[in-house]
Amino acid sequence: MLKDDLLAVLINHPTWHNGTDLAGQLGVTRAGVSKAIQQLKTVGYQIEADHAKGYRFLGTTHLNQQLIQNQMANPGGWRLEVWDEITSTQDRAKELIANEPSDDLVAVIANYQTAGHGRLGRTFYSPAQTGVYFSIVIPNQPIKQIAKAGLLTTSVAVVLAEELEKLIPEVKLQVKWVNDLYLNQRKVAGILTEAVLDIDNPHRGSIIVGIGINLSTADFPDGIDDQVASLKAADFDRNRFLANFLSRFEQLNATYGDGRYLPAYRQRQLLLGRQVSLACGSEQVTGLVQGIDDQGALVLKLADQSLRTFDSGDVTKVSW
Ligand code: BTN
Repeated sequence: MLKDDLLAVLINHPTWHNGTDLAGQLGVTRAGVSKAIQQLKTVGYQIEADHAKGYRFLGTTHLNQQLIQNQMANPGGWRLEVWDEITSTQDRAKELIANEPSDDLVAVIANYQTAGHGRLGRTFYSPAQTGVYFSIVIPNQPIKQIAKAGLLTTSVAVVLAEELEKLIPEVKLQVKWVNDLYLNQRKVAGILTEAVLDIDNPHRGSIIVGIGINLSTADFPDGIDDQVASLKAADFDRNRFLANFLSRFEQLNATYGDGRYLPAYRQRQLLLGRQVSLACGSEQVTGLVQGIDDQGALVLKLADQSLRTFDSGDVTKVSW
């Protein structure tokens, strides 16, 4: 499509492009180029036009696969998909694992999710333009690596917080075990780590890490509006963030198993020393948060002073 081809040329070579040259290169008329440029500008691509020099790409608030790829350290190891609208990047990731398996890491990225979801089947509110919603597939993992999900989720939380703080230096993010990022006692981002196992190959499977970030969402639906917030980052460059995060993810994926991110996770803990209620399956447990163990599990001191470790569960209540 002309618009896509034109955009690829402008983005890949962000210098001036003469209208006649562009028309020749793309096999259309100069008027065709001018019309496509107007259309791109209308949908939010900033393109400077000059009678003498031609056209030059300046930037965009749109998620754009080419822009993400161009800014990544090692795009070769990745397959990227960018959607303007999708039900859920997590569901799309599962479709890809089932129907188009790949040995590369895969990132499915969306501007808007109509059915974004989180842990325990909860809805993850994912309005257009004001967030970042993406899922990463780590293919072909041995079962013993899949069993380290606690270390993976906690490592992702650390790198996510660090990369967000690089672009929004005024915020200091905390982690609420196991998978939430908090700002001022409100959830601003969530992580959903899932495993997809293959019945024909019981020794290996894929891991999907889904990440949702509330960047500038102003209004949240009733029922969650007192628990969640946004980072109030309206000018956030989502393409740059994704390129940075995905570039770091490769290193994270190669090393998280040794627990190297745990010290940073512990430092960001919101719950340390708090009295919490934890739902763990059908059980409700109350205790004082002692810390995070070497597998990323939560350690609680119970009323009888005994210590108990939980590798999964949902902290439902915190005494602040
Ligand atoms: C949670 O809060 O429990 C985790 C939220 C994870 C949301 C992300 S958004 C991208 C990906 N697609 C989904 O449907 N969910 C994850």
